[in-house]
Amino acid sequence: MSQNPEDALAAAAEPRPAATGSPFLQVRELRVHFPTDDGVVKSVDDLSFSVDRGRTLGIVGESGSGKSVTSLSIMGLHKAGTARITGEILLDGQNLVGMNPDRVRKLRGKRMAMIFQDPLSAMHPFYTVGTQIVEAYRIHNPVSKKVARKHAIDLLDRVGIPNPTSRVDDYPHQFSGGMRQRAMIAMALSCDPELLIADEPTTALDVTVQAQILDLIRDLQQEFNSAVVIITHDLGVVAELADDIMVMYAGRAVEYSSAADIFNTPQHPYTWGLLSSMPRLDRERTERLQPIKGTPPSLINVPEGCPFNPRCAYAGTNGNLSFTVRPEFRDVGGGHHIACHLGAEDRMRIWDTEIRPKL
Ligand SMILES: Nc1ncnc2c1ncn2[C@@H]1O[C@H](COP(=O)(O)OP(=O)(O)OP(=O)(O)O)[C@@H](O)[C@H]1O
Ligand code: SF4
Ligand SMILES: [Mg+2]
Repeated sequence: MSQNPEDALAAAAEPRPAATGSPFLQVRELRVHFPTDDGVVKSVDDLSFSVDRGRTLGIVGESGSGKSVTSLSIMGLHKAGTARITGEILLDGQNLVGMNPDRVRKLRGKRMAMIFQDPLSAMHPFYTVGTQIVEAYRIHNPVSKKVARKHAIDLLDRVGIPNPTSRVDDYPHQFSGGMRQRAMIAMALSCDPELLIADEPTTALDVTVQAQILDLIRDLQQEFNSAVVIITHDLGVVAELADDIMVMYAGRAVEYSSAADIFNTPQHPYTWGLLSSMPRLDRERTERLQPIKGTPPSLINVPEGCPFNPRCAYAGTNGNLSFTVRPEFRDVGGGHHIACHLGAEDRMRIWDTEIRPKL
């Protein structure tokens, strides 16, 4: 190891998050706040990240950390008047924040598409699955209904729907939950989107279909050089697929780096917690699995200082800094960003002596 731990950690892994050029999706200082009777819910509070064409970003965090709110903001799908959105969401250089909703609608399908966490919310109950895929496809592709129908059947086949030639004429309620999820994935992929956001794309599916879906997303990306965002609470899902990973906690990014860095030299106590609670096939003694104690904070009253302090074993390491000062999200070397007051030597010591040996 080098004398300077910051440098040593920075040199540990390649590749780095895209830092040059103009990424296809660039989110800058995004804030999404919902005024409610109980107070303002700060679901997303100063979030910045970017995804280039051909790259995959994994967004990981516990329930309620703001993952879906972030993706719905990018897609322009928050109900009118409910969310206060500030900052910038640049899609190929065009800012979507404040853009006329009709213009945003035209970008959906071909320029950006989303696999929703809840398939029912994405499908219309009164139209057959096939009709919905055909209509989505024909908005952006001037082809006959017959050609579009063939495309729909092909897609249903690719996402693993049995007998796609007849199931194409079923209504969503005639599909099981897992099949609806796959049909919605077919719909999202129908126009070969340049940006695909997949919000928990595999949670309702069995392991074999999960692998098929992740392969399909990978194929889309390779064929069309798409930018992909995969959202999950399970680090395992993004382990193989993501180039970069952003870990979210309470509406903010707490760690952001290449996937290699996140798995090999994670530097934030919350990420250590996620890794320690991750089930692994090669783990013999499952009793070592340690869920992160406690629950995430209310997004109306986020704790002073570091929002993770009530759950963090290292909150007392720097006097009372963690309880009084919000840690800045900063580059600790080579594009590896964290929001934590721990110094480089403490982080390395804790990782090497307390966390890594137990993984
Ligand atoms: N329309 C809304 N009004 C008020 N609060 C909202 C609204 N939509 C979302 N929230 C709140 O924002 C927070 C973040 O929600 P979000 O759905 O983004 O979480 P998530 O990270 O996707 O969680 P999960 O893993 O459970 O899907 C939650 O506390 C949620 O209750
Ligand atoms: S800033 Fe303090 S409380 Fe927050 S993660 Fe770092 S050590 Fe823990
Ligand atoms: Mg969600």
